[in-house]
Formats: sequence, structure tokens, C-alpha cells
Amino acid sequence: MTTPHNSAKKGDIAEKILLPGDPLRAKYIAENFLDDVKQFNTVRNMFGFTGKYKGKEVSVMGTGMGVPSIGIYSYELIHEYGVKNLIRVGSCGAYLPELELYDLVIAQAACTNSSYASQYGLNGTYSAISSWELLYKAVKIAEEKNLRHFVGNIMTSDIFYDDNPESWKKWAGMGVLAVEMESYALFCNAAKAGVNALTILTVSDSLVHQTLTTAEEREKSFTNMMEVALEI
Ligand code: HPA
Repeated sequence: MTTPHNSAKKGDIAEKILLPGDPLRAKYIAENFLDDVKQFNTVRNMFGFTGKYKGKEVSVMGTGMGVPSIGIYSYELIHEYGVKNLIRVGSCGAYLPELELYDLVIAQAACTNSSYASQYGLNGTYSAISSWELLYKAVKIAEEKNLRHFVGNIMTSDIFYDDNPESWKKWAGMGVLAVEMESYALFCNAAKAGVNALTILTVSDSLVHQTLTTAEEREKSFTNMMEVALEI
């Protein structure tokens, strides 16, 4: 079965998939970290590939930016293609002063200003959390590799250019580590379907220190994040 957004056939996609936001990042990962690579999707240039890492099948596909985009792709991966372990690999903006550029953030849970969970008709606020199994493995690997990493809550925001430049400080005051734009939807889709999801992020900018990485500088820390995600 293909979908309106994915031309892969059943069986083309591995049970484990890495999900960067940028489809060219997916291509880079496939070319630099995987063997025996086959491309399974080009629809909307949202490239997807399946290959092998240390002999085991793994896929990688872009998700695009934001909740609606990852909501679509991850739903189809789970329900049409039988994917069981979904690991987002992305970048984030730090909310807390102790986070430095290139640090890893391993998301235990995600807050949001998105209405994504309203579709479930829950009588309250849903806490979107990552898979304990994937979280535990990721933290162990980061420790073994001696990588600077933080584990905790993140913010999935619908807004990149916020009309109120101070609004993030309220989330920081709740101990939220960093902001990105996709994980809440990924965690909801996974929870509803009973499969595993995790997000691993690299700090690409700091709202506290107002610092920013360049594209080339990101590559080094990006490799750390990839190695954790692939080893899980
Ligand atoms: N805001 C939202 N998403 C992000 C950011 C940010 O500052 N940095 C990386 N992803």
C-alpha cells in the first residue's frame, strides 16, 4: 500500500526508523552511516531510505517541520508500514543556562502549545512521553560514550517566530530543557498505536545565551546524536 505522501511498498521500511526533520539530512545519514541503502520515497522530496547498520535493518526518513508534518508521516509509518520504533533526531533551542551548544537533549516527555491531542477527546491535558525502553537505552549509550547530555522535558512549539519573545521563559521556569517543533505529535501517535518513540536533539541555539551554531559546526555533534540513535 502506498499513501498520498509515501510511495514505499509494504516491507520496504524497517521496524526501526530515524526521523530527521530535513529530508537532505535523511539522505546524508543513509549515505554516511548505512550500508546496502535503497531509497523508498521521493514524494514531495521527503526522502526515505532503508539500509543496514552493523548488519541490522534500519530506515531513515525526513519528517518536515512542525506538528502537522510529522503527524502525517509518523502516522503512516506506524499504521501503513508497521514501524515499531521511531526515533526523531533533530535540533533544539536551549531554554536553560546550563545547556551549551552541541549538548544532547534526550526527551523524557514533551509539552506543547499545539492542539494535536484534542483529537482524542480526553477530559484533561495529555502528557506526551517517550518510550521508557528507548529512553533507557539512549541514556546508557550516551553515558558509555561520555557525551554531554540532558534528560528531561522539552517543548514542542507551533511557533518559531513568537510575537512575544519572552513567552519561553515561563516554560523554562517549569524546568523545560529546550524547544523544538515535532515531538509531541510523534509521542501521541506512538502512544495511541502502542509503539515506541523517542527524540534525541542537539542544541543548535540558546535562547538564554543568544548563541547559534553554524551549519558546519553542527556536523560534529550531529555525529554524536546519530551514533546514539543508531546504537539503540
Ligand atoms: N525554536 C524552535 N525550534 C527549534 C529551535 C528554536 O529555537 N532551534 C532548533 N529547533
